[in-house]
Amino acid sequence: MQPRLQPSSKAWISAGALMLLLSAPFTLAQQPAGDDTGQQAFNNSCRTCHSMKEGDNRLGPNLNKIVGRKAGSLPNYNYSSSMKEAGFAWDQDKLTRFMVKPDEVVSGHKMQPYGGVSAEEASKVFAYLQAAGGQ
Ligand code: HEC
Repeated sequence: MQPRLQPSSKAWISAGALMLLLSAPFTLAQQPAGDDTGQQAFNNSCRTCHSMKEGDNRLGPNLNKIVGRKAGSLPNYNYSSSMKEAGFAWDQDKLTRFMVKPDEVVSGHKMQPYGGVSAEEASKVFAYLQAAGGQ
C-alpha cells in the first residue's frame, strides 16, 4: 500500500525549469534604443534642462523629434525672440555647432547658464538626439 509517486510530476518541474533557462537570455539581450555614450553625454550636459519627451518642457524646451524641427517652434514654450525668429530647422550641422557655441548659431538666445561642450561630445549627443527623438 505504498503511495506511488506520480511519474509525470518530476518531468513537469524540469520542463518548467528548462523553459525559464531558455527564455532568460532573450530578456537580457534587449537593449534600449540609442548608444550609451551618447545618452551619457546628454545626461551630463543637457538633461538638467531638457527632456526628450513630447510636451515635457523644463527650463529648456523638450527635444522630442528635434532633428528636422523648426527652431523656436513649440507652441507651449516661452522662447527668446531670437530663437523664435531664428528661421531655420535643426539639422546635424546646426545642432552640433549650437552645442559647441550657441551664440554663433542663434545670437541672443537664452540657453543659460550653459558652458558648451567639445565637438566630440556634441557629435555623441547628436547621435543620441537622433536615436531617442523618434526619427
Ligand atoms: C541651463 C539649462 C540648459 C542646458 C544645460 C542646455 N539647454 Fe538647451 N535650451 C535651454 C533653454 C532655456 C533654451 C531656450 C532658448 C531660447 O529660447 O533662446 C534651450 C534651447 C535649446 C534648443 C532649441 C530648441 C528649439 O525648440 O528650437 C536646442 C536644440 C537645445 N537647447 C539643445 C541643447 C543640448 C543638445 C544641450 C546639451 C548639450 C542643451 N541644450 C543644454 C536650456 C538649456
